[in-house]
Amino acid sequence: MATKEGTSGENPHDPRFGQFGQLGANARRALESETLPPHAYWSTAIYQSELERLFFNQWICVGRVDEVPSVGDFFTRAIGTESVIVVRDSASSVRAHLNVCRHRACPLVEGRGTATAFKCPYHGWLYTLSGELRGAAEMQRTVGFDKKDYSLLQAQVELWHGFIFIHFGKAPPPLAACVPGLQEWISGFDLENQVTIREWEYRLDCNWKVYVENYVEEYHVPFVHRETLEPIMPLPGWHTYPEIAEPWGMIWGDYPKLSWSSTGKPLLPLIKGLTERSQSGMPLFIVYPMFLCMPAVDCTAYYLVFPTGPETSQVLLRLCVPQDTAAALKSDAELQAGAAEYYRNIETFVAEDNEIAKKQQRGLRSRRAVPGRYSKREFLLFKYHDWLRQHVYSHLGSAERSDVIGAKEV
Ligand code: FES
Ligand SMILES: [Fe+2]
Repeated sequence: MATKEGTSGENPHDPRFGQFGQLGANARRALESETLPPHAYWSTAIYQSELERLFFNQWICVGRVDEVPSVGDFFTRAIGTESVIVVRDSASSVRAHLNVCRHRACPLVEGRGTATAFKCPYHGWLYTLSGELRGAAEMQRTVGFDKKDYSLLQAQVELWHGFIFIHFGKAPPPLAACVPGLQEWISGFDLENQVTIREWEYRLDCNWKVYVENYVEEYHVPFVHRETLEPIMPLPGWHTYPEIAEPWGMIWGDYPKLSWSSTGKPLLPLIKGLTERSQSGMPLFIVYPMFLCMPAVDCTAYYLVFPTGPETSQVLLRLCVPQDTAAALKSDAELQAGAAEYYRNIETFVAEDNEIAKKQQRGLRSRRAVPGRYSKREFLLFKYHDWLRQHVYSHLGSAERSDVIGAKEV
């Protein structure tokens, strides 16, 4: 039987949550542990370790298939020190090439666009959309040179509910195996058939984890979003499930048919085929380390948080709607007004999160800053930290790891 401290909300017995409503060891450990030390948010050694162990060794969401609808459509994405070209090739497959010329490593393209081939700006080597080297001038006398040996290097690609995930490893586990149990929470939202209608990009002076951590706890809502989100979705309605199998997690907002209007009521057509569960509230889920997704009854907002340095980040935020809604939006003034209200509200609360993230980074730089404690509203944050400790920080050299590893109990 669940007990009150088994979830962060006040409704742990809700039968919809099944096993997730049970009190578990993770919740107890959270309440006995300290948070990560401040240097985890600015140390270069820790940052490098996160790149290697997380961003180059986990499935990373880079966008959606509707960003590359036709053959030749591409976009580039910077992930730490790497850059990839995500492209729909001539066989209509989505590929991810490392954006590094096989001659002398110049990046081939920037931004997004449509191409028939990729030509290196430095010495003109030409690659097909599938990454094969097709043209290389002045190379006839180079001994043993065979264009077949100089294709672009590839990252693995998986498509999942319309999202594009890449993995830099050679034989990664299937993505579905990395998110056990998530499917049942999101299956009612028809994510697969949604298209992007709005994009935002933010460059922030904060460590990438600062931004992700703000998402995985609802504790800040009454303070940071006092006049924006708190009146619509007040703190007691949020629940976390600290026994969910990693590497994913979720906060559930117990607000039926919640969306992003000023009142929380949906203003766009409801998604067809919504299940009873998906109409009963909003899951804010994270696929570790940095894919943050909020399916609603009429749209989906998601964030991608990319590290650009130990204390700088790029945050991409997108809003998606079903294809039918996107088509209707072209001519329906009422729907356009609804969407505009969503944009304004989203921009307002995101600005609040962005501001607090930058502030927190400054505090983390204090020479006197030390680890803190978790509230019962931060179980998912604890779990996330615990996972980082196991998967990243336990591999650090002794000089860096001393006070990062081990959820120190107090
Ligand atoms: S670096 Fe690309 S052609 Fe030389
Ligand atoms: Fe927030």
